[in-house]
Amino acid sequence: TLNRSVSRSLSLSKILFHFISCLDPPRVDADGNGYISSTELGNLFREVGCPVPGYQLRQLLQKLDLNNDSKIELSEFEALFKELKDDRIAQSFRKALNKKEGIVAIGGTSELSSAGTQHSISEQERFAFANYLNSALEKDPDCQHVLPINPNTEDLFKAVGDGIMLCKLINLSVPDTIDERTINKKKLTPFTKQENLNLALNSASAIGCQVVNIGAQDLKEGKPHLVLGLLWQIIKIGLFADIELSRNEAIAALLEEGESLEELMKLSPEELLLRWVNFHLKKVGMKISNFSADVKDSKAYFHLLEQIAPDGSKEDVPRDLVKRAECMLQQANRLGCRQFVTAADVVSGNAKLNMAFVATLFNKHPALTKPENQEWIVESKEERTFRNWMNSLGVSPNVHHIYGDLQNAIVILQLYEKIKVPVDWDKVNRPPFKATGGGHLKKIENCNYAVQLGKQKAGFSLVGIGGQDLYDGNATLTLALVWQLMRRYTLNVLEDLGHGEVAGDDLIISWVNKTLSGAGKTSSIKTFKDKTISSSLPVLDLIDAIQPQSVNFELVKKENLSDEDKLNNAKYAISMARKIGAKVYALPEDLVEVNPKMVMTIFACLMGRGMKKA
Ligand SMILES: *[C@@H]1O[C@H](CO)[C@@H](O)[C@H](O)[C@H]1NC(C)=O
Ligand SMILES: *[C@@H]1O[C@H](CO)[C@@H](O)[C@H](O)[C@H]1NC(C)=O
Ligand SMILES: *[C@@H]1O[C@H](CO)[C@@H](O)[C@H](O)[C@H]1NC(C)=O
Ligand SMILES: *[C@@H]1O[C@H](CO)[C@@H](O)[C@H](O)[C@H]1NC(C)=O
Ligand SMILES: *[C@@H]1O[C@H](CO)[C@@H](O)[C@H](O)[C@H]1NC(C)=O
Ligand SMILES: *[C@@H]1O[C@H](CO)[C@@H](O)[C@H](O)[C@H]1NC(C)=O
Repeated sequence: TLNRSVSRSLSLSKILFHFISCLDPPRVDADGNGYISSTELGNLFREVGCPVPGYQLRQLLQKLDLNNDSKIELSEFEALFKELKDDRIAQSFRKALNKKEGIVAIGGTSELSSAGTQHSISEQERFAFANYLNSALEKDPDCQHVLPINPNTEDLFKAVGDGIMLCKLINLSVPDTIDERTINKKKLTPFTKQENLNLALNSASAIGCQVVNIGAQDLKEGKPHLVLGLLWQIIKIGLFADIELSRNEAIAALLEEGESLEELMKLSPEELLLRWVNFHLKKVGMKISNFSADVKDSKAYFHLLEQIAPDGSKEDVPRDLVKRAECMLQQANRLGCRQFVTAADVVSGNAKLNMAFVATLFNKHPALTKPENQEWIVESKEERTFRNWMNSLGVSPNVHHIYGDLQNAIVILQLYEKIKVPVDWDKVNRPPFKATGGGHLKKIENCNYAVQLGKQKAGFSLVGIGGQDLYDGNATLTLALVWQLMRRYTLNVLEDLGHGEVAGDDLIISWVNKTLSGAGKTSSIKTFKDKTISSSLPVLDLIDAIQPQSVNFELVKKENLSDEDKLNNAKYAISMARKIGAKVYALPEDLVEVNPKMVMTIFACLMGRGMKKA
């Protein structure tokens, strides 16, 4: 049977060769590295509707490997099928595949799109993200049912439907965000898929993705523009994770003459990335100011590659821009960095994909040396949680550095609106703010207004906090305001559910106690500082009370807990809370350390979830 399946594959390959020969070579060699991988071959079979299992592909590739170098050159592939001809089949495949490159508008008549709206999606992005997922999750045993994704079709949008791959991608971007044990993997039903998607969406929120307009149903249906938007947010967070001064001390090497660390910290990851490219280009007297027009001719890339990973070769650079970009990408491939862009994306100046490519280069070959005796600013877990919360609400601009980015109060004022405190925008000075000549006074005016709203309209306790403190980025005082905003946001969710009384700590605690005892659980909490919370048992019991039988208590350690046991319970608890639909921002460490603020948000979110059920 082995031979039969190989010969079946081979006869399929005959068919394939014909339409392949009608297409551009890059169609076969999708990533353009000059070789055909089993992924690429697999994609071709899937495109003609004859998926072939991985082991058969490997056998087929072995057969094709004429010179036995473990690689299938395009020439070898062609050599085997040269003499075959069948124009009819070739034609039909060409029709099916040779879709117009570039932007396609989808929607309109599609019943999947809401109310006939048109959304443009980028085929380049779809292609790039599918290839990224194929390589990033290639070895993940839980993703084999959807991988490899055919980058040339709508496969990608179906592949996210059960939520597994999204959970894996989130965990890849921000390790340990999702507890593996909470993902439903086997015998999936509509309900367990929904749970996975809730887990993915609530976890995406917690790492700072804006998902307010995306629901599990959209992902289940694979709405292209929403899927691409979410994927890009998650991928970007992972790509940019180390392009941050607080995580990567070597970035201090990018400080310019007379610049302070605080000023450098205010740069967005995009700006830092440009700064990094220019840092290396300076040695050859070049400079770019964007990842679009300025990289089209690949020149900056050649110099950058030469600086970060010199290989001494002086190859002739082709005059044709596409060929030149391809030649550059082959060099990047040798560094393991051929990712996100095709030669065409370079030449067309696709800013998003080029930026992702450059971030890949940075992550693998930063070629930066950490300056000696440089002080270092570390971001606390709490600061990060607050920042992720703000970003997930879609504040603009995105908050990279909590103190620097709140200095003009624009983001704080947006947060007031999120907690339903009306902001009179006529009273607000809008950016851009002049660097000199009173620009700072305009920012302080905004800060004063932000404090005034807190005191007069929101009823916050802001004793001793002035606008100047926000402007100065005083950590303690800024966080005091931000915490009250987040707390109110959390409590509003309860009020939205029609709870008459003004929700407060006592109300939440008695609801927790009542719900726990009502479900026959023995745990209870006295306050949000209760030491028993450190085991996460009250949280897990509450989750199980809200959604009976959802918690697998065999995975939970109940007695004589070591620190590691506590952390394991906490990771499980946080992921479980998200899985049953609670949008929890807190981290497992907040439970282990019994951080009363974040503990309060966890119970409040669960209460919101529990009341929704009722
Ligand atoms: C190809 O490689 C395999 C495995 O290394 C070896 O067993 C086989 O003899 C080689 N065939 C040729 C034609 O070199
Ligand atoms: C999540 O990431 C952690 C750390 O990288 C890893 O140990 C764990 O297996 C991952 N889980 C999933 C669901 O991929
Ligand atoms: C990119 O920068 C160049 C100058 O360096 C400029 O001419 C071009 O318009 C910019 N393109 C975009 C899209 O910003
Ligand atoms: C922040 O404000 C508090 C209270 O006014 C003050 O004690 C502290 O020194 C300030 N911190 C900085 C860094 O200025
Ligand atoms: C919650 O339960 C504990 C233990 O039974 C009890 O001491 C505490 O007073 C209760 N708190 C509230 C607010 O119900
Ligand atoms: C916990 O520790 C106590 C005292 O060391 C011991 O008697 C008990 O059996 C332990 N329980 C578990 C579940 O290991």
